[in-house]
Amino acid sequence: MNFDRIAHHYERIESIVFGKDLQRIRCSHMETFLDAESILLLGDGDGRFLKALLDSGCSAKIICVDSSQRMLKLAESLTKDSKHNVRFVFSKIEDYDLPDSFIPDVIGAHFFLDCFREDEILVILGRISGWCKEHTKLVISDFSIPEKRGFTRVIAKLLVWKMIVFFRTFTGISAYNLPKIGQLLSEMSYKCLKKETLRNGFICSWIWQL
Ligand SMILES: C[S@@+](CC[C@H](N)C(=O)[O-])C[C@H]1O[C@@H](n2cnc3c(N)ncnc32)[C@H](O)[C@@H]1O
Repeated sequence: MNFDRIAHHYERIESIVFGKDLQRIRCSHMETFLDAESILLLGDGDGRFLKALLDSGCSAKIICVDSSQRMLKLAESLTKDSKHNVRFVFSKIEDYDLPDSFIPDVIGAHFFLDCFREDEILVILGRISGWCKEHTKLVISDFSIPEKRGFTRVIAKLLVWKMIVFFRTFTGISAYNLPKIGQLLSEMSYKCLKKETLRNGFICSWIWQL
């Protein structure tokens, strides 16, 4: 999987399809991030969430891990004028060892886990669980097919299919359908503390805790 090829077009593509809704949902639990002293961001991409976080006054220690050099460069450049304490790490999350001294209060993963197959997500969640302390919160944003049958559900399914074809073609994501992230987290004993949704439940952000 490599997002370098589309890194410079990512924001434009997103805004054509979703307008400002994805950024709105990424920022929907901002108060949880602002309460944290240490934040780990997984696959955070081009840095728009990070910039919003820093602009909101976050002074936490932040580690941003991403496997795309270009995404990381965009994030660094977007936040270069903000006062911050951010370490950008070029690595796959599967290979990354979080320093023992870094205990994350919040782990953020926006539109990251749905790039993977469910068996891969279980491995990633296993690593994440190893980094969680009792108080650590997991903020996860992703798509979800609305339960209620009807037009929105049909459009959601169509959009998901198109996105999967697009990302499989241009970035090589391994997901071939939308993973049931909520179900996987529940099966691992995570509890959902809060959920925000847009577009009738299609775009979601959850706070989870072990
Ligand atoms: C769909 S983009 C999401 C970007 C951003 N978080 C957002 O909200 O739009 C997925 C991001 O995860 C990164 N990524 C993909 N596989 C990864 C891996 N195994 N480890 C770390 N980052 C990864 C990609 O480089 C990309 O920046």
